[in-house]
Amino acid sequence: MTRIGVVGAGRVGAVLAAALRAAGHEIVAAAGESTASRERMAALLPGVPGGKPTDVAKSCDLLLLTVPDDMLENVVNTMVGAGAIRAGQYVVHTSGRHGLAVLEAASFVGAHPVAMHPAMTFTGTEVDLDRLRGTVFGVTAGEQDRAVVESLVADLGGVPMWVPEEKRTLYHAGLAHGANHLVTLVSQAMELLAASGAEDPAATLRPLLTAALDNALVAGDAALTGPIVRGDVNTVRAHLRDIGETAPATIPSYVAMAKATADRAVLDGRLMPLRAVKIVRLLDEALAKVESPHLTHRTWTEQP
Ligand SMILES: NC(=O)c1ccc[n+]([C@@H]2O[C@H](COP(=O)([O-])OP(=O)(O)OC[C@H]3O[C@@H](n4cnc5c(N)ncnc54)[C@H](OP(=O)(O)O)[C@@H]3O)[C@@H](O)[C@H]2O)c1
Repeated sequence: MTRIGVVGAGRVGAVLAAALRAAGHEIVAAAGESTASRERMAALLPGVPGGKPTDVAKSCDLLLLTVPDDMLENVVNTMVGAGAIRAGQYVVHTSGRHGLAVLEAASFVGAHPVAMHPAMTFTGTEVDLDRLRGTVFGVTAGEQDRAVVESLVADLGGVPMWVPEEKRTLYHAGLAHGANHLVTLVSQAMELLAASGAEDPAATLRPLLTAALDNALVAGDAALTGPIVRGDVNTVRAHLRDIGETAPATIPSYVAMAKATADRAVLDGRLMPLRAVKIVRLLDEALAKVESPHLTHRTWTEQP
């Protein structure tokens, strides 16, 4: 059993702490000031005392630092400056982008730095607990800490994947490009479906998208179907015309994805370069047409 402290009790911190508690560890204290963090502590960590970050750090053997990425360095430096982190203590953060460099101040005083990022999206509620089973954790740590980290990930029900320090950003970019941009893509697709008259766009898309995702995860580019890979130039032209009339703000992402799709289909040998050139020309023309003030990003980037 390890004595664990949590700074802060956000979506990830409260859930990981609850899972570690269920695995038999003691959660000695947790820090979180906002109403949302306090409510999460009451729901997921009943009986765990709240405390100031420095007090939480002093009271534990393993400090879970689950603060926003941009706060990490400052929080660690402040705690080290206050003498709250000591030699031999484990200091674990859950950021995907950061490796061990951000914990340099803690390493300097002899603590064991660990980066342990769950490749999962969190709601900060108990529904996340079941999702931890089988979740991959992108882990960076010193060789001497390998066994401790693997056991911690196992206690969470996860699977460790070791990521070299210099590859952390790339690792995180891969996850964000897949998971975050998928959300934008699906939202735009639902809007187009709704505009076409679909009463339940989500229900219409779910079987198709689920099959496409499964196929892509198994076969990569070979899973591709549709007008681009078939070289159906007229279908792409018709799409661009109707999207341009109904949802012009969707044109730039349609064009970007269609170009990337055409490029990969040519390299794959499934699309004739001649057809690809025609498609790319159409895409460029459509993009030029919507470069006008009604694009939403134009509107908000011009705000003072
Ligand atoms: N959300 C996800 O799906 C997800 C998935 C994987 C990894 N992660 C990573 O997990 C980490 C935490 O993300 P999150 O989504 O859980 O964040 P979050 O829900 O916004 O929670 C952040 C927590 O940090 C506290 N905090 C903020 N600034 C602080 C400071 N200067 N000093 C001390 N505590 C501070 C907040 O306290 P208050 O409530 O008092 O403001 C809150 O308890 C990030 O590194 C993120 O990249 C997130």
